[in-house]
Amino acid sequence: MAQARDWLREASSIAVLTGAGVSAESGLPTFRGPNGLWRNHKPELLATPQAFADDPKLVWEWYDWRRSVHSKCEPNPAHRALAELERRVAGFQLITQNVDSLHERAGSQRMLHLHGSVWRTRCLGCAEEKWNDQVPLDPLPPHCLCGAMLRPAVVWFGEPLPEHELRAALEAARGAQVFLVIGTSSAVYPAAALPRVALENGARVIEINPERTALSDAAHVFLQGPAGELLPQLL
Ligand code: OAD
Repeated sequence: MAQARDWLREASSIAVLTGAGVSAESGLPTFRGPNGLWRNHKPELLATPQAFADDPKLVWEWYDWRRSVHSKCEPNPAHRALAELERRVAGFQLITQNVDSLHERAGSQRMLHLHGSVWRTRCLGCAEEKWNDQVPLDPLPPHCLCGAMLRPAVVWFGEPLPEHELRAALEAARGAQVFLVIGTSSAVYPAAALPRVALENGARVIEINPERTALSDAAHVFLQGPAGELLPQLL
């Protein structure tokens, strides 16, 4: 912990990759693990373009449920600590795989959303993307003013990541002196490649997770525990 604290204090460029675990203490379920979403729901029926083509109402009902769960959650000390770190360090970049808006609600601004947001919709006709925080959505599936159906503006399995976000995230990973990896199983690519890119480019990699992951052996420092407790201590 002391070593990691020194590295963070001395660094002028810091990048942070977060996953579902950073929102766990806000009450949001993660994807993998004992109570993970993918334990009780099949990703291929809910989070692929094919699933949406087959049954848009079912997919929207699942996202509508997730939006209602997210709307009842508040940012936790981990989200707030990262917003504070951004205020302290000029060369800061937060990269998240999360589709909730808890980082923004805690005050983070320099953010890249690799997997989109459940709070945005995209029109299948005119392609317009819009913020939409209506809970619950009614009727389902929702439609655009142009008449075409809307989809959640999230990245589904089999879809590419948004180009700008991925490019900027890779750039941040290459340029970071310290790369923090928080609350992700490091199982889903290309996000999971970012800490490896940082390592190859000489960054100090610090991981925070209650459990060891595919990255833990390669990280310079592995801090075992919940992010909401460890991050405020670290900063
Ligand atoms: P996972 O569910 O795969 O992993 C969550 C990680 O958070 C696990 O390693 C947990 O040990 C850890 N964790 C749990 N509680 C924590 C806490 N209090 N503090 C810190 N860590 C904690 O979630 P992700 O890695 O985010 O993609 O999953 C990556 C992607 O897979 C998601 O963005 C989603 C999913 O399928 C798409 O939907 C495209």
